[in-house]
Amino acid sequence: MNVLVVGRGGREHALCYKFYQDASVSRVFCAPGNAGIAAHAECLDIEETDQHALVSFAKENDIALTVIGPEQPLAEGLTDLFLAEGLKVFGPTQEASAIEGSKAFAKELMKKYSIPTAGYETFTSFQEASDYIKKKGAPIVIKADGLAAGKGVVVAMTEAEALEAAEGMLEHNRFGASSAKIVVEDFLDGEEFSFMCLVNEETIIPLALAQDHKRAYDNDKGPNTGGMGAYSPVAHLPSATEDKAMNEIIKPVVQAMIKEGTPFTGVLYAGLILTEDGPKVIEFNARFGDPETQVVLHRMKSDLAQLLLNLLEDKTEEVKWSDHTVVGVVLASEGYPGSYEKGHSVESILNAETFFYHAGTKKVDSQIVADGGRVLLAAGSGKNVEAARDQVYDALNHVDASHFFYRKDIGNKALNRS
Ligand code: AMP
Ligand code: GLY
Repeated sequence: MNVLVVGRGGREHALCYKFYQDASVSRVFCAPGNAGIAAHAECLDIEETDQHALVSFAKENDIALTVIGPEQPLAEGLTDLFLAEGLKVFGPTQEASAIEGSKAFAKELMKKYSIPTAGYETFTSFQEASDYIKKKGAPIVIKADGLAAGKGVVVAMTEAEALEAAEGMLEHNRFGASSAKIVVEDFLDGEEFSFMCLVNEETIIPLALAQDHKRAYDNDKGPNTGGMGAYSPVAHLPSATEDKAMNEIIKPVVQAMIKEGTPFTGVLYAGLILTEDGPKVIEFNARFGDPETQVVLHRMKSDLAQLLLNLLEDKTEEVKWSDHTVVGVVLASEGYPGSYEKGHSVESILNAETFFYHAGTKKVDSQIVADGGRVLLAAGSGKNVEAARDQVYDALNHVDASHFFYRKDIGNKALNRS
């Protein structure tokens, strides 16, 4: 079959590389892709947001399955258009993708269906938000309601910090329309992990757990980013954790979406935190996580394209995994998640002896150069976290990564705990 992946980041590279290896797939296309994706897929000169060009391409090229990577085209209704045209697509409808696109929608849904998450209130007035923050005290969490590329959350350890964040969002349009409404949430303490499930309305196929590293610098310091590294599986979590998350969170949410008249098909990504009272939801995403997808799919032995096509017909199967652990380290442009320069060559980094997923690269003349904040993800593999981590850092230690930075502690939480 021919498959089409929509997007241009590391997550889409992981999808393309997996499809490239799947026995059921003959041709992989990616719109628009990047310099690394070009090694595993035919990159198209079509933007993620160009709905009509994507549909025409899928029709004219006998595309059996389209997978939409990023949240933006989902929120804009790309899935709806594919479905209306009778095309097979793996991704939620515009309405169902509100589980990610509006934190207020997700929180109300969880409240209504008693799904464990932090207590909260929503605000559009700074005066009311500030009264509430003063009443609750710190630590407290301030979140922009809409999409903000993983940057619209402030975990405030002081009341002053919380007030400043709320003021920036509500009074100074810090994230434009995305922060015209905010969610103010209780602070939860515990270990975070990511649970992605492939879903078709009622049918659920769980993927292996992963752990992201959201802060920019070592020891979880610095600003929140889209994710600076990940590993999978997360072997040190108590063994009942995954079952509890499935029974108390994933299944109830999937049922809730059906009851609300917005059944969910696509990747339901639950960002969870393991508190003393069990796993609770930090956020939902309506798509594959980035960088979690790179480390999870790197271990997948099953044929993903076939698995997804079968799922769209409500056929489930158990996913087969490599028993290796994969540790992925993101190389980002200096300055990210703030402003950064583009255009520096990554050729010397690519000499490192490990596999690279490309997140933000393009080819200029014969050189591959950085074209984004997150640029590459180096993937190391080994019999446990320690071995995988050593492999990837040994490889990176031998190359010149000036103009870029990466965290040196990806996976350390697992080592300290096991
Ligand atoms: P989000 O974009 O909602 O995933 O939030 C980004 C990060 O902020 C999460 O990965 C957590 O580390 C942190 N965070 C969000 N909500 C809470 C909360 N209620 N309690 C503690 N930390 C949180
Ligand atoms: N790594 C977090 C996300 O994909 O939103």
